[in-house]
Amino acid sequence: MKVTVVGAGNVGATCANVIAQKEIVNEVVLVDIKEGTAQGKALDIWQTSGINNYDTRLTGVTNDYTKTAGSEVVVITSGLPRKPGMSRDDLISTNAEIVKSVTENVIKYSPETILIIVSNPLDVMTYCAYLNAHIPSSRVIGMAGILDTARFRAFLAEAIDCSPKDIQAMLLGGHGDTMVPLPRYTTVSGIPVTELIDDERLNAIVDRAKKGGGELVALMGTSAWYAPGAAAAQMVESIIRDQKRIFPVCSWLTGQYGLKDIYLGVPVVLGKNGIEKIIELKLNEEEMKLVNESAKAVKEVMDVLDNLK
Ligand code: NAI
Ligand code: 2OP
Repeated sequence: MKVTVVGAGNVGATCANVIAQKEIVNEVVLVDIKEGTAQGKALDIWQTSGINNYDTRLTGVTNDYTKTAGSEVVVITSGLPRKPGMSRDDLISTNAEIVKSVTENVIKYSPETILIIVSNPLDVMTYCAYLNAHIPSSRVIGMAGILDTARFRAFLAEAIDCSPKDIQAMLLGGHGDTMVPLPRYTTVSGIPVTELIDDERLNAIVDRAKKGGGELVALMGTSAWYAPGAAAAQMVESIIRDQKRIFPVCSWLTGQYGLKDIYLGVPVVLGKNGIEKIIELKLNEEEMKLVNESAKAVKEVMDVLDNLK
């Protein structure tokens, strides 16, 4: 089994490292456009194999897609990261060019692959990959919801003083400040979160989770990579091991939640066929209003992409 990660920068290399350490596949191919970067990162990660006890082989290549042939899953992280003062949407035209050319190259050598897009602006780059891949939407999936709920869970674990492992959370909408964390679908070992934390603190945590990416950009001068890389690897694992885990991912909607022709974060079953089912939650009026607002924001950026073409 082979997985390719395109973009051997912060997120891509972290994702490859997690996939190797968990031995999700036998081979990870790292691709980057910058001469030597992917080779160097692959070699460095491989040299942890004796320390971390795994067998997964890593190969790094500079733009040589022949080495990616037959990949079961391809994770696309290539693109510019966010800098302070930039919104995710500012990245659109540059990253759209990159995602388009990478998608075409990947599909040429792995026509049956499942694509996981990470590049920002996430929902629109996933749409861009879908437009250029010419494969079913169940195999073109964006990574954001696992990361955004992981942030929400981490903040809640600190506030409640419990293990993040015991927190289950769900979130809908785009990967931006309009994302919709759902406290009504958040539990701690089965206990509704609202029984463990007051509304004021919960609302503050929802707000912090929505701005979680920006908080890290302000601290580091570039966007995050440990949690994004691990989140993308968790999607790879669910697909490769056919775990059928239920995660919020960026998915093409064809009428679900009353929305169509849009990529948006919704809960899905993720298995060997990619998105095997989209789960429609029974949202209340306020939740649906927030999802519609988020969809409107995503659609506006999708229109920018459509007008670039
Ligand atoms: P980075 O700058 O560390 O790495 C990007 C890599 O892509 C670089 O090594 C660059 O040489 C490579 N690259 C550029 N054009 C390429 C091409 N045509 N083919 C192959 N490789 C190419 O950036 P980082 O931090 O890894 O972020 C990557 C992307 O992921 C950014 O767009 C960022 O905004 C996004 N991101 C998305 C998240 C999400 O939740 N969806 C979370 C974190 C980052
Ligand atoms: C993040 O959420 C910026 O999308 C990137 O960390």
